[in-house]
Amino acid sequence: MPKPTVLVTGAGGQLGSVLVSALAKKHGPENICATDVREIHLPLVRTGILDVTDKDAVSTYIKDNGINRIYHLAAILSARGESNPILTWNINTGGWLNILEASRELKVERLFFPSTIGVFGPTTPKKNTPQDTILQPTTVYGISKQIGENWGLYYFNRYGLDVRSLRYPGLISYDTPPGGGTTDYAIDIFHKAVKGESFTCFLREDTELPMMYMDDAVRATLELMEADKEKLSVRTSYNLSAMSFSPRDLFDAIKNRIPEFSITYEPDFRQSIADSWVNSVNDSRAREDWAWKPEYGMEELVNIMLDNL
Ligand SMILES: NC(=O)c1ccc[n+]([C@@H]2O[C@H](COP(=O)([O-])OP(=O)(O)OC[C@H]3O[C@@H](n4cnc5c(N)ncnc54)[C@H](O)[C@@H]3O)[C@@H](O)[C@H]2O)c1
Repeated sequence: MPKPTVLVTGAGGQLGSVLVSALAKKHGPENICATDVREIHLPLVRTGILDVTDKDAVSTYIKDNGINRIYHLAAILSARGESNPILTWNINTGGWLNILEASRELKVERLFFPSTIGVFGPTTPKKNTPQDTILQPTTVYGISKQIGENWGLYYFNRYGLDVRSLRYPGLISYDTPPGGGTTDYAIDIFHKAVKGESFTCFLREDTELPMMYMDDAVRATLELMEADKEKLSVRTSYNLSAMSFSPRDLFDAIKNRIPEFSITYEPDFRQSIADSWVNSVNDSRAREDWAWKPEYGMEELVNIMLDNL
């Protein structure tokens, strides 16, 4: 099978930088086009500027580079999105529609859309949240991703476009900074801990949220994109789960390794976003359809973060 030519949008972000290097390993760096609205520097792969809100630029880029696979990561995340809802809608939903339309017109073979636990809302069952459930998100980010999932399903049903998607939990990595989400505290806390500083947490200590170590998220993404088309029964977005913890749980685990570490809690506007999300997610469909299984729990995560920062 010839190697695909892959476009990654929003490639300079927390997930993109790690995903691009995994894709380069898999398909060869010369076959990866890593783009962002701003200039980015990623080793070996082809890089370029691409604003996903510019439909002509998106179509031209896909055509000129012979793209046949797209990972569409460009977005404004949950917390940052609340400071400019209309811009967030235009980038998250308008950008995705541009990618879908250009992919339909130019017959792109396969697309990946990253969704989120942000699609859940206060009316969603909070524990072991099922795949098919009530989605009434409270943030513009959640609304844009919920609608994005449904646009993906629409293009799949109507035009046969092979759109695949995951609802990521909060993603935790040591080598790339977080991009303005509600789970960012779970990265910031490690930076303070290794510097020997105290941490002020913007969420309440008992706020339990689903989380995932970056390597698991990247592996899940590659596995879903390689899975047999016939095996995929979810064309909105797959629930995906690895671990759940609260700031208190994470603090206790870090304190086990750094006894002098201290924390204070000063919840801000992100508390109400976190309160609207769920505590844990049922990902049995991902496990059944394409054999998903996480490798990292909280203990491994804490050790990796403290050892690598
Ligand atoms: N990080 C997480 O915890 C998490 C959780 C769930 C879902 N996701 C999803 O994964 C994807 C990647 O997330 P991330 O954490 O890397 O986000 P990030 O904020 O770190 O990166 C997003 C990138 O998109 C770029 N971008 C913004 N506007 C653009 C535009 N108009 N055109 C092109 N690029 C543009 C930004 O410059 C940035 O580099 C997003 O779609 C996000 O919703 C992330």
